[in-house]
Amino acid sequence: MKERVEELSNLIEGKTLEESLALVANAFPGKVRFSSAFGQEDQVITHAIFKHSIDIEVFTLDTGRLFPETYELIDRTRARYKRPIRVYYPKAEQVEELVTKKGMHSFYESVENRKECCYIRKVEPLKRALRDTAVWVTGLRADQSDNRQNFSLIEWDEPNQVIKFNPLLRWSYDEMLEYLKKHQVPYNPLHDKGYISIGCAPCTRAIEPGEHPRAGRWYWEASQKECGLHQVKQ
Ligand code: ADX
Ligand code: SF4
Repeated sequence: MKERVEELSNLIEGKTLEESLALVANAFPGKVRFSSAFGQEDQVITHAIFKHSIDIEVFTLDTGRLFPETYELIDRTRARYKRPIRVYYPKAEQVEELVTKKGMHSFYESVENRKECCYIRKVEPLKRALRDTAVWVTGLRADQSDNRQNFSLIEWDEPNQVIKFNPLLRWSYDEMLEYLKKHQVPYNPLHDKGYISIGCAPCTRAIEPGEHPRAGRWYWEASQKECGLHQVKQ
């Protein structure tokens, strides 16, 4: 699989979002999956997949700690496109053990505790979601963080042993907003209230004008601000 990264990279060179998604889907029928966190980037990709009936499964990882607005958006998206969105949950026994031992807010206590919660609620379910997958499509954009500047449009993802495709990697924030507006794509109302990057409710706050777009994620930490889904490359 690894050796097909270059081939795919050449295949999508200069193609539009919709064309590149369709080309990748056709190269691996039934084995391309898109992980959506229902962020603005994700909604662009979901629209492209569903509107053009591209053979890519859309799934989300429900950590159990999402904002009510995010849950509402999941249903609005289902209603708008009338296509299945697969939902994965963390393993119940792991969450039970975590909160029994460490309480409901262990993630505020240390980076180690925070990563433990992210592992149980996001990383492990992702591994299950990516079983029997050739290409994992994400909504990553390079502008989101310094770490993400080092990502490639198509790359090999060693932890999950899949080809990772980040079709919006080089899109600007404004290009993304323009696409959402042009196609009237449903989005999270929290974005209009100062939230740029939205994750779990207890771990996300709105940002002030001029703050880094990811400053509101794990806002009490001075860490790399990655939860383990995506590699730290610095
Ligand atoms: S995170 O690693 O910091 O949480 P971020 O919220 O920026 O990631 O989202 C980047 C991409 O990671 C999304 O476009 C999506 O592909 C994937 N992702 C993050 N969280 C989830 C989730 N809960 N469910 C599915 N995909 C997710
Ligand atoms: Fe747990 Fe917070 Fe990570 Fe969500 S973002 S999985 S609540 S530590």
